[in-house]
Amino acid sequence: MSRVPLLAANWKMFKGPASAGEFLDAFLPTVPEDGPEIVICPSFASLTAVIEGCAESRVEVAAQNMHFDEEGPFTGEVSPSMLVEIGADGVVLGHSERRALFGETDEDLARKVPRALEAGLTPLLCVGETESERRASDTEAVLSRQVLSDLAEVHDSDLARVVIAYEPIWAIGTGLTATPEQAGEAASFIRDLLRSRDPGQAEAVRILYGGSVKPANATELLGLDDVDGALVGGASLEPGDFAAIVAAAS
Ligand code: 13P
Repeated sequence: MSRVPLLAANWKMFKGPASAGEFLDAFLPTVPEDGPEIVICPSFASLTAVIEGCAESRVEVAAQNMHFDEEGPFTGEVSPSMLVEIGADGVVLGHSERRALFGETDEDLARKVPRALEAGLTPLLCVGETESERRASDTEAVLSRQVLSDLAEVHDSDLARVVIAYEPIWAIGTGLTATPEQAGEAASFIRDLLRSRDPGQAEAVRILYGGSVKPANATELLGLDDVDGALVGGASLEPGDFAAIVAAAS
């Protein structure tokens, strides 16, 4: 099955609206007319500016988090329908920084992923092991727990709409990249987990790699059988670097 590659820029807590606009001025002219799907994930403060800035392009925009409820007394949170109302296409869920620093759990994600789908948003679900979990040979156990519990409430018929990003935590922002063998093995393992849910839908799910992706290593990582794109942090802040990563997938 041929899957359309997807390159996503996770800007984390970088770039306010003005600097996001400068990025788009430089990046959008480099976007190929067709080819890989491209998603920019700005902070909440810059979402509307980026949505408006990308309106005439084929670049999509995703938030970096979302609450599972529609409304309520949840100070600091944003709901699925609010993201839809401002024109977001998707939402990053379960990034390791949210799990580790803000206490996000698999139980939260089991509620968030189906809510995003119901709202019409593409969930980009992040999973991945810590360095000590990899050293203890627990990578597969961690991935199984995260993938199977976070998707537990997703109907089989909706599985293909989920994007999964394999992001080994030891490779995020460290300059260390998973070897192609490690990234390929983890992505194939994740696809096998999805096959255990629904063999047909599993073939359509895009599985991304994330963790120190750069123009210099993108071609090799994006060439792996079960890797269908990348979730890029640091290198996505530079329009030239992100454009080079998009070109590597084209
Ligand atoms: P880096 O590309 O900076 O390692 O970040 C990866 C990441 O966390 C993307 O979500």
